[in-house]
Amino acid sequence: MKLSNLISSLFSKKPTHAVLFLTYQCNSRCSWCNSWQRPKQKQLTFSQIKKILRQLKKFGIKLIYLSGGEPLIRTDILEIIKLASDFSFDMILATNGILLDGRIIHHLVKYPSLHINVSLDTLDQKLYQKIRGVKALNRVIKNLKLLKKLYPNYPLRLTMTISSANLNEAKKVYAFCQENKIYFSPNPYFPQGRFRKYSSIHDYQSRKNKFIHYYQKIAQKVKNEPFLSGFPLIYQKLILWLKNQLQEPCGAGQEIIFIDPRGKVYACQDLKPFADLTKESLVKKWPEKKWLPGVKKCYQKTPCFIFCTRSPYILKNNKMRIMLDLLTSKKILHYFKMY
Ligand SMILES: C[S@@+](CC[C@H](N)C(=O)[O-])C[C@H]1O[C@@H](n2cnc3c(N)ncnc32)[C@H](O)[C@@H]1O
Ligand code: SF4
Ligand code: SF4
Repeated sequence: MKLSNLISSLFSKKPTHAVLFLTYQCNSRCSWCNSWQRPKQKQLTFSQIKKILRQLKKFGIKLIYLSGGEPLIRTDILEIIKLASDFSFDMILATNGILLDGRIIHHLVKYPSLHINVSLDTLDQKLYQKIRGVKALNRVIKNLKLLKKLYPNYPLRLTMTISSANLNEAKKVYAFCQENKIYFSPNPYFPQGRFRKYSSIHDYQSRKNKFIHYYQKIAQKVKNEPFLSGFPLIYQKLILWLKNQLQEPCGAGQEIIFIDPRGKVYACQDLKPFADLTKESLVKKWPEKKWLPGVKKCYQKTPCFIFCTRSPYILKNNKMRIMLDLLTSKKILHYFKMY
């Protein structure tokens, strides 16, 4: 993230992060996500996206997650990224990596403000197919290795969604990341939510202690291991959440907003939209704070710990602690490369 964007994010009183779901369509069939099962619907055109990006800029958004569905499915994805870069947004592209071939890589690495984040949850072919519903593991690994071969210093990040089905694989996936100099981000599976799906193969209620133990180890190591992504405090809060002891708000609506493929904007993807950005102005609608009661009601029951809503809240409200962790970390340069 650009230093100027980071500083304004830490001190802003409005959201500075936005997740843009560019499409709900997907080339995977994941067992924990129902994005791919949604009926095909109209999605924003390029010129509507342009108008929305202009609105986001005016409102004060600094960082955009380009997500979905699978964002690389959009044939105009490179034009969208160029546009967002022209607006000076920082970007994180969340992809399953299947379409991340040499041609796309070559275009994407041109944008220093864009970080690529590939999802990979196992190195086992059968398990990959069980989790992601398609036979694409070899292709994803090939694409990751190609990117690192062509651009060895590129700060590529891998997100592993961890459930009961693949907790045993976490060590191997992290070792793969270390070997290939890829940042590893272990995120937990959630059964609830509009796009998330309950599945007994992923349920970890009866193995919660194992999960807590895993994240305790991550929290101890993360400050000094170069290719482990995140801050100790974020994992410590996640552990509290796993123990049902986390009482604090999430950042939905206040730190981050979500925009769906038709242009409706939400404080959190699990609540009702508070505006339609193809017809209404974010600058006018957000301050009405119609989204606030829903968010409060929701986080008081703490049903989720999504990193994209929790992290900006935690970072903003614990600046001194984060600064101290940064300054005493053995990998300070990696932190700057990673974010
Ligand atoms: C919804 S996907 C969109 C981007 C892209 N299609 C991908 O898979 O990376 C973003 C991330 O959400 C994760 N995810 C999907 N369902 C989830 C669930 N039920 N709990 C936690 N994370 C989930 C995916 O594994 C992925 O890392
Ligand atoms: S998690 Fe990503 S790749 Fe899997 S179905 Fe959902 S959107 Fe597609
Ligand atoms: S806790 Fe926050 S991010 Fe999670 S579902 Fe509720 S409002 Fe959304």
